[in-house]
Amino acid sequence: MLQLSGVSHAYQSGRRRTTVLKQIDLSFERGTFSTVLGPSGSGKTTLLSLASGLDSPTKGSIRFDGQELSRLGLGRYRNRHAATVFQQYNLLTYMTALQNVTAAMEITGSRPASGRRKARARELLAEVGLDEDLVGRNVLKLSGGQQQRVAIARALACDVDILFADEPTGNLDEETADGIIGIFQRLAHQQNTCVVVVTHNQALAARSDRVLVLRKGRVAVQD
Ligand SMILES: Nc1ncnc2c1ncn2[C@@H]1O[C@H](COP(=O)(O)OP(=O)(O)O)[C@@H](O)[C@H]1O
Ligand SMILES: [Mg+2]
Repeated sequence: MLQLSGVSHAYQSGRRRTTVLKQIDLSFERGTFSTVLGPSGSGKTTLLSLASGLDSPTKGSIRFDGQELSRLGLGRYRNRHAATVFQQYNLLTYMTALQNVTAAMEITGSRPASGRRKARARELLAEVGLDEDLVGRNVLKLSGGQQQRVAIARALACDVDILFADEPTGNLDEETADGIIGIFQRLAHQQNTCVVVVTHNQALAARSDRVLVLRKGRVAVQD
């Protein structure tokens, strides 16, 4: 469904040019849960930002169902097909947890229809383990782990074909992290979503269908 061919990416800062990804060929299919491992600085976040349409590669092509992302339109791709859980959450800080989730549904026009959105948002927040008495609280007054759960619920609310997540369990205790992994597995295997998760967590990687390892700009599938 999502195909990267000959993708290279370089950052320019001043006169220095750093090539982060080199000639990556990779595809992601519906119904699969992939994880991406690799040392810090190996380009994991860069790979996600290209695959999720936040940035365009310096070289190579990225296609969604056969169509080049730049032709489909990056904004349209992100709005309709791909949701991302960012490493730094990127929540709307003037809103409550619940409002962050319902706002995402409104922006992307996701189901259910407007009258049922609040109830659906509450369900999603419960599913990611956010206490019910916290859903009406401004997100700045939540802990890092709680904000992370809101960010995950918000991405789930968008009802997309592909879910990307950048170290989504980094601030969660083991039990909550375990629950989140279960959600990713169900999304892939029961709802046919394509799930792509960057992680340092070996236990999480072990429960995915495919482990990709980034090293020195190249990617290998772990046996
Ligand atoms: N916007 C940017 N401008 C310049 N260099 C960047 C930028 N973003 C990332 N880099 C560099 O690219 C490399 C890979 O970064 P990143 O994709 O964030 O790796 P990871 O997520 O694996 O830690 C690092 O050396 C980082 O410093
Ligand atoms: Mg990163």
